[in-house]
Amino acid sequence: MSKYMYIIHQACSAWRRICFKNPKPTALWWSVNCHTGPDVFLHPNEPGAPRSQVTKRHRKERSSCQQVLECFDQQYSQELGDLWPSARAVLLDTHSWQYGVMLNRFTTVTGITQILQSQGFSTLLPQTLSNSKYQAGSLLPPDYIPKYPPNDSHLQPDNSSYELCQDLQSEPSLSLPCPTLQCYIHPYPLRFPSQPHRPGQLKQYYLLNAASLLPVLALQVRDGEKVLDLCSAPGGKALAITQCATPALLCCNEPDPHRQDWLAKTLESFLPQSLINRVIVSAQDGRSFGQSEAGTYDKVLVDAPCSNDRSWLYSCSSQQGEQRLKERARLPALQAQLLRSALSAVRPGGAVVYSTCTLSSSENCAVVETVLSDCPEADPEDLWEEIAIPLAKYFTFSPAHPGHGQTPHKPSLQPENGTLSSYRHRLGILVVPQPGKTWGPMFLSRIRRKK
Ligand SMILES: C[S@@+](CC[C@H](N)C(=O)[O-])C[C@H]1O[C@@H](n2cnc3c(N)ncnc32)[C@H](O)[C@@H]1O
Repeated sequence: MSKYMYIIHQACSAWRRICFKNPKPTALWWSVNCHTGPDVFLHPNEPGAPRSQVTKRHRKERSSCQQVLECFDQQYSQELGDLWPSARAVLLDTHSWQYGVMLNRFTTVTGITQILQSQGFSTLLPQTLSNSKYQAGSLLPPDYIPKYPPNDSHLQPDNSSYELCQDLQSEPSLSLPCPTLQCYIHPYPLRFPSQPHRPGQLKQYYLLNAASLLPVLALQVRDGEKVLDLCSAPGGKALAITQCATPALLCCNEPDPHRQDWLAKTLESFLPQSLINRVIVSAQDGRSFGQSEAGTYDKVLVDAPCSNDRSWLYSCSSQQGEQRLKERARLPALQAQLLRSALSAVRPGGAVVYSTCTLSSSENCAVVETVLSDCPEADPEDLWEEIAIPLAKYFTFSPAHPGHGQTPHKPSLQPENGTLSSYRHRLGILVVPQPGKTWGPMFLSRIRRKK
């Protein structure tokens, strides 16, 4: 066993010892970078925690920012109704947050899959079992539903969503794209150590909020396509794209120089040279990209700058919280410009996926509605059947609600009949963090440019 594998093995064994001694897994400590790449690390007091990581990365537990929380309470209780109190509980309990381990198909991952499985991780996308280059069986039965440890009564799954979820599970499982994308998740908020950079060696896995994979699944990238990732840093979704298919060209655009460095490091650490040769890193303002490269791409991802509810809730000072709330008002205009630009950059017949990591309807379906209203060649597609139903046992979905956030709605996991329902499904789907399924927030919408 290599030194590195030994460290992972030790860390996992330590967790297993702790987790099965105590009814509730011990504390998680991390910082979250945008939607992806939670910086996961071990609590310093844990036996088996790698020392170098512990000393460098130990941070105090963060407290939430009151201004931001008040704003969320006001807006999300209106927009999400009954789902908000339990979503709020999850966002405020950082120890309950889960994360996924996306394997890197360009490395040998057999050892990692064995460790993950022995720790109770299972694959998020079951269809990978039959097709993957690196096969991995799940130790958990296919209908396994994560349950919260009994003493976390305040975080018990909401019953109504849970029952609906059971109904959806009896639906025949639909086939999702990306058979080579492998992501392991755990029913509990188990931490898995992040991999240190080693010159000349590719990393075997990337840690992320599993909901970040959904926009990539919706993009349906095929081998040989030209793909644009318009807002790319730190690169989690760009990596996920390369796990799904081998594009002829992947353009990763990021205008912020600091974040562009971060993106370049991510790509270098995960992709082999043969694929790096197909990747371009560009630094344009995404709003003008569509003009300069009109009709060029088969697929475009707009993972837009947004309120980022998880991280904004932990603004480091009330001043920063206030500043962010001011900034919030300006985001929908920027997001709409980015989406319009993406629709210009995609070829006729190609598809654009728009995503954010906020629950805010003014940054989600309202942006999509605004752009659709002045873009007759754009055709929104239904992701409810394609993504929400097959993955309902892992994520809590709420359909988009139209009307620029003014229409309070009763959240439902069940597809409804009628025009309003199909319109809502076509505007996009929202992943709402819930107890035991803490993934999200993540909104996604797919828009096809008519031929
Ligand atoms: C949500 S993050 C993207 C996360 C990334 N897709 C991933 O999965 O790792 C949004 C990114 O958009 C970038 N951004 C901000 N303004 C932009 C603009 N005008 N054009 C393009 N990108 C922009 C930000 O610097 C930030 O890196």
